[in-house]
Amino acid sequence: MGTIDRILVIGAGTMGAQIGLVCALAGFETAVYDLAETALDRARTELEERTARAVEKGRLSEAERDAAFARLRFGTDLTGPAAKADFVIEAAVERLDVKRKLFAELDRLTPPHAILATNSSGFVPSRIADATGRPDRVCNLHFFNPAMVMRCVEIVRGPQTSDETVRATVALAERLGKLPVVLDKEIPGFVANRILGAVRDEAIRLLEGGIASVEAIDTVCRTALGYPMGPFELMDLTGIDIGYHTKKARYEESGDPQDLPSRSVTELVERGELGRKTGKGWYAYDRHGNKIEG
Ligand code: 3HC
Repeated sequence: MGTIDRILVIGAGTMGAQIGLVCALAGFETAVYDLAETALDRARTELEERTARAVEKGRLSEAERDAAFARLRFGTDLTGPAAKADFVIEAAVERLDVKRKLFAELDRLTPPHAILATNSSGFVPSRIADATGRPDRVCNLHFFNPAMVMRCVEIVRGPQTSDETVRATVALAERLGKLPVVLDKEIPGFVANRILGAVRDEAIRLLEGGIASVEAIDTVCRTALGYPMGPFELMDLTGIDIGYHTKKARYEESGDPQDLPSRSVTELVERGELGRKTGKGWYAYDRHGNKIEG
């Protein structure tokens, strides 16, 4: 399959931007593509701020930071970076029609040896792979938020994913400093998001049933169960819209009303209160993403 030197990341949202930086810090020539110039500007600023803090704290040297940014390109042109890519990580919006269209396009634009991976947790590889002429080189490479910090990545193979693709993706994840967990059977949500989803749904039931407040539920999860964050804090971190769209997509497939997004989540999404990235979700945040207490 050859060596992997150049990575193309599709989508400059929270995950795409951080995945791009992880790749550049690990020494890969990395292109982050997005349709929207504003998303790219936001991503660049956010990464500059994050790495500036890491340099300040002595966790990253200035030279490492500068070398990473020299390897990182942001752009609205897909054709050029795609033609040179050895590995693609798609982190675009969680919509199957968008992903299938993108993968069909990537199949045309990338060299035949390139592996096309999706960061999706909601869509299994087989739903996307058949939009390409290389289903053996399609898999899920699922990062966790914050992608710069969380060590685990889930690598999911579809029925057509080749052993060689899995091996190359595992090797790449390790070069990125991640701990890959390979899942040989596909199921929407994989392991982490299925478990998280069960906790989140119960937390929302307790809230909507008037049993406990957002703060009380988060406090119990942190201090009784040892979670690093409560379920509402975590929804604010990952983006309320992400969970909303994942559930909506699942409902559209299953028709099961249990899969519908909850009332309170729908209200937040309708108000544009999507969590840390918009300054408000279940909690309010300052411009650095720190929770405003009280
Ligand atoms: N983005 C980037 N880096 C961040 C960050 C963010 N939003 N928040 C914190 N960090 C970094 C900090 O800069 C710090 O790095 P440093 O040591 O290099 O300075 C490090 O994380 C630790 O941060 P803090 O000391 O401020 O805070 P904590 O010790 O509380 O850790 C946390 C923060 C790592 C986010 C921790 O609370 C945690 O593990 N939370 C749970 C996260 C989780 O469950 N993620 C999975 C979500 S599910 C998902 O992503 C699936 C997808 O499909 C939606």
